[in-house]
Amino acid sequence: MEVLGIDIGGSGIKGAPVNTSTGELTAKRFRIPTPKDATPIAIAAIVLKIVKHFDWKGAIGCTVPARVEHGLVRTATNIHASWIDTHVEQLLSEKTGCKVTVINDADAAGVASIKFGRGSAAKGLVFFITVGTGIGSAMFYNQVLIPGTELGHLWLKGDAAELYASDRTRVQEGLSWPEWAGRFQQYLNRIEFLFAPDTIIIGGGVSRPNKVKLYSKYLSSKADLHFAKLENEAGIIGAACSALII
Ligand code: BGC
Repeated sequence: MEVLGIDIGGSGIKGAPVNTSTGELTAKRFRIPTPKDATPIAIAAIVLKIVKHFDWKGAIGCTVPARVEHGLVRTATNIHASWIDTHVEQLLSEKTGCKVTVINDADAAGVASIKFGRGSAAKGLVFFITVGTGIGSAMFYNQVLIPGTELGHLWLKGDAAELYASDRTRVQEGLSWPEWAGRFQQYLNRIEFLFAPDTIIIGGGVSRPNKVKLYSKYLSSKADLHFAKLENEAGIIGAACSALII
């Protein structure tokens, strides 16, 4: 089955039709930069452009970088405050005329990893941790998603962990890769102490191979530690696959 996957991110909104059995994109990805004033109305207009670009009439799976509860956005840490309490599934379904399912961006990327990526053979308790503007998390037990974990907001050094150890913080504070890895290690230690996962998969911008080689030797974990391989497309693929199961 083909589903249109759309990944709403801080810098771009990307979409492509996905074969949900293989995880492959069936057409070239289409990307529109995220506007500065990224309100729900502005984003809905861009989602409609993506739908029109593919002349799409079927099911759509979409991500947002926030907690989503039954179609309602509940948090807005790195997105416009007006998203809070927006019924995003209703908004996007009405705008596009298609059935739209919306899930958290980290949950979506994790689903892609569990179905088609590094997590496909992982059993037991698995965390997919995506590191970018914020830190997002997806939790799986024996391959089943337990949605909405928001572990970027674990308390670390007196505030949300993502303010201390995200990739944005690395850039903003001019941290070297070893310095950033030292911070991220403290975050991993916290996750390990609280949950004792069997596997941790690191995704997001920092999982690109050219970056991994700059810091991986500074990280260690009792869990099996992996770096995601579907980085750019994970949100699109996971969103499309989740549209079927919700
Ligand atoms: C948000 C999460 C999101 C993560 C990554 C965090 O600030 O609270 O919902 O998954 O950023 O985008």
